[in-house]
Amino acid sequence: MSTANGSLRPLPIAPADPAVFVGFGASGDLTRRKLVPALVNLRRTGALPAAFAFIAVIRQADVGKSLADDVLKAADEHLDSPLTQEERDWFLGRIGVVVGDVEQPILYADIAARLTELQASHGTGTNALFYLATPPQLFAPIAAGLGKAGLLDEAAAHGWRRVVVEKPFGHDLESAIALNRALSGVMEERQIYRIDHYLGKETVQNLMIFRFANSIFEPIWNRRYVDHVQITVAESDGIGTRGGYYDEAGALRDMVQNHLFMLLALTAMEPPISFDADAVRDERLKVLQAITPFTRAMVERDVVRAQYAAGRIKDADVRGYLEEDKVAPGSSTETFVALRLQVENWRWAGVPFYLRTGKRLAKRVSEIAVHFRQPPFMMFRDTAVRSLNCNVLVIRVQPEEGITLEVDAKVPGQALDLKTVAMDFKYDEVFAQTPSTGYETLLYDALTGDQTLFHRADSTEVSWRAVMPILEAWPSQSRPVCYAAGSWGPEEAHELLERDGRAWRRP
Ligand SMILES: NC(=O)c1ccc[n+]([C@@H]2O[C@H](COP(=O)([O-])OP(=O)(O)OC[C@H]3O[C@@H](n4cnc5c(N)ncnc54)[C@H](OP(=O)(O)O)[C@@H]3O)[C@@H](O)[C@H]2O)c1
Repeated sequence: MSTANGSLRPLPIAPADPAVFVGFGASGDLTRRKLVPALVNLRRTGALPAAFAFIAVIRQADVGKSLADDVLKAADEHLDSPLTQEERDWFLGRIGVVVGDVEQPILYADIAARLTELQASHGTGTNALFYLATPPQLFAPIAAGLGKAGLLDEAAAHGWRRVVVEKPFGHDLESAIALNRALSGVMEERQIYRIDHYLGKETVQNLMIFRFANSIFEPIWNRRYVDHVQITVAESDGIGTRGGYYDEAGALRDMVQNHLFMLLALTAMEPPISFDADAVRDERLKVLQAITPFTRAMVERDVVRAQYAAGRIKDADVRGYLEEDKVAPGSSTETFVALRLQVENWRWAGVPFYLRTGKRLAKRVSEIAVHFRQPPFMMFRDTAVRSLNCNVLVIRVQPEEGITLEVDAKVPGQALDLKTVAMDFKYDEVFAQTPSTGYETLLYDALTGDQTLFHRADSTEVSWRAVMPILEAWPSQSRPVCYAAGSWGPEEAHELLERDGRAWRRP
């Protein structure tokens, strides 16, 4: 459907099945900033069922008294337009609170009783989506509590029962295996939704459509035509108030093992036989399985870890990582990683993939840049042209979501002079934007039973297996190198590409 300014509106969407959303950790930041605003946005687009209710599971009774009001107030700050009175009343009438200790069986009996009540009072039926927005060490105990109470038994419930598990999914391979085992002990894989909010972003989903719904890219999407691929997820923010968590995790665990590997998998995967969740997840998995295992020598040569020092961002002085709150004195946690890896299969053998991510970098930007091979230069050697640039296809994930193809063109005039120009597609210029926190698609998919954009057990383990040699090698290596906050990372990250005769893009 076209609008007056020529942009396209998304098609209307069918509301999800009646259901109850049971939010563990509902007094936390994620629920306020992302989940409740996303539910409001879903209702605004007609995607939330009328028979819907929200049970906030929290541990402090006094917080419970004002929780519904508080989360709606907080949601207001993260919505494109504030809640109307009708919306406020609608949600207030549907948010209930259950207080208790996640280690105690009584909590789950209370949840079960509340589900039965809501079924009668709001016609929500027996479907329930349990969302684990708590610290990760509680994921397994909560799953166990739900399992023991029979709350995940779909046959007994006569409805679906699904569990959304937040990140981080494990701290290393061993803990990821243990968590998968704890989850699979009480539910089927088809009930588990391991969330990665990066996969909810429109451009990330569009990557598959772009590759497989257009005939011109797939024939050149391989080692014959692609020189190398760069994946950048840069943040200008520091660690904020998350020092405690971040200092234990670091950029490799927090970003590379999950988000960057997913961008890699979507870029490099083979066409799935359908958009069926497992068909897509099978192909993503194969990419991760094809990553050449890192040896100690490769970690030394191909992986750069770094930590931000004080610097300037947006004309303001910012402190270094070691001065941040809740960071251990002398911490060697990395806030930046750049690495070179190979996907050793028929399509990609010999094509390096360069990944980088970091905090306190010059700009907040996430993009995938596919650099194509240089054309032969011979016919230009008697001209003033000194070099030819590679074509680069840039998929911008955020901000300014869109796709750009860089090509060389002749500068008008009598002299033969070339300049790189861009063919540009910007999402917001073509499509009327649906308001988004990035979680709408994922919540809707979980409510409608589509696991395509969620991690499957095997891919969590394979991606941990790929980064483990790096994590194991680092303690015996020297400290992370430093980079100034506000820069594009340490010199060593630039050298990683210069060594191969290449350079990072300046997004
Ligand atoms: N915030 C984000 O933007 C974001 C993004 C991606 C992933 N995540 C993930 O989402 C999860 C929640 O993050 P968050 O930022 O919302 O954390 P948060 O603000 O610290 O909230 C954590 C929630 O868990 C509850 N909780 C903590 N310890 C508990 C315990 N022992 N028993 C019962 N409840 C307990 C807290 O209750 P009290 O209020 O009583 O302390 C609070 O409701 C984490 O796994 C995080 O990694 C968050």
